Amino acid sequence: MDFKLTEEHLMIQKAARDFAQAELLPGVIERDEKQIFPTEQIKKMGELGFLGMMVDPKYGGSGLDTISYVLAMEEISKVDASASVVMSVNNSLVCWGLQTFGSEEQKEKYLSRLATGEIIGAFCLSEPEAGSDATSQRTTAIDMGDHYIVNGTKNWITNGSTADFYIVIAQTDVDKKHRGINALILEKTMPGFEIGPKEQKLGIRGSDTHSLMFTDVKVPKENRIGEDGFGFKFAMKTLAGGRIGIASQALGIASGAYELALKYSKERKAFGTEICNHQAIAFKLADMAVNIEAARHLCMKAAWDKDNHNNYDLSGAMAKLFASQVAMDTAVEAVQIHGGNGYVKEYHVERFMRDAKITQIYEGTSEIQKIVISRSIISQ
Ligand code: CAA
Repeated sequence: MDFKLTEEHLMIQKAARDFAQAELLPGVIERDEKQIFPTEQIKKMGELGFLGMMVDPKYGGSGLDTISYVLAMEEISKVDASASVVMSVNNSLVCWGLQTFGSEEQKEKYLSRLATGEIIGAFCLSEPEAGSDATSQRTTAIDMGDHYIVNGTKNWITNGSTADFYIVIAQTDVDKKHRGINALILEKTMPGFEIGPKEQKLGIRGSDTHSLMFTDVKVPKENRIGEDGFGFKFAMKTLAGGRIGIASQALGIASGAYELALKYSKERKAFGTEICNHQAIAFKLADMAVNIEAARHLCMKAAWDKDNHNNYDLSGAMAKLFASQVAMDTAVEAVQIHGGNGYVKEYHVERFMRDAKITQIYEGTSEIQKIVISRSIISQ
């Protein structure tokens, strides 16, 4: 077993760290406060190859492995989780899904533009009544021969208004239940496609979350991903990889909050010494460090499974469940270590605390991860 990162991995980690410090840190507080999407920063991330990290270079991607992706996600998330969710959705849910299951025509038409950030993508599964219970899709895609007619509403869609490319999961044949679901490519210029108002969120406020409404949207048959009825399996397989991305986002939030707390505890004095010298603080730092290291190992194991073509449903769900809890716990303790300063924006940790919560909710709540994990271990 080799725990050492390669030279290439270290270079990617450094490139992501340098980018986050130079380009994302300035303005991150204002973007959070005013809910401003990081348009320029996302464009630069595309130019640097961070939006299509695992895409084959023949489609304009970086052709890297999942370990590289986890390393970059951690570094970006240490500074700006709003930027990293755009990166995660584009890489894991959109580019990976399209590259793995899309037709050659679909890849040629969309993938290189998505991988370079010329356009960004969105993944539309959740509905008002189908969040965790993803088989209960109410959005319909009625088969009209050479096209589908799509009607319905999707909720909480990341990149909702900034995307140009949308993968929409919809029910074609109700009698076939989840085997009658399809994954279709929609473009926002299609007549009948409407974007709802921007959600006012607790965290990841720089990211762009909307509901989407479809009224008789005509979608050509060639925009279906995979065979008829493959849509639910497509969503599950894609989300399994997406969970590795969100686990590494959670890892980044945790390590970002921890690094700030450690630094602060070495500078701030109380009762005649730096507060890190008090066991009350030192023990918190020790717990944070252990939990973050354990979360990192789980993320890396899941990435390694994916890169080695092992099943990663279990390891990805474990990584997401654990890392998101570590993100939440670490961010809360980082605020506590900062005392009153932790409660104000300029110290960043209150933002980490708000951002951490979503990692326990999207791409499957913690309870969903426990369903996936328990089913997997019971069936072994
Ligand atoms: N890979 C391949 N197929 C899978 C699969 C996987 N990982 N997981 C399930 N399936 C298949 C099953 O084999 C089954 O197919 P067959 O009947 O043909 O064999 C089918 O899918 C249905 O599976 P289940 O009976 O297990 O389905 P279920 O109703 O019990 O639900 C669930 C399973 C895991 C709870 C699933 O509904 C789920 O993951 N829910 C959460 C959805 C989710 O993560 N939503 C997040 C939205 S996206 C998002 O947040 C993006 C963003 O903006 C950041």
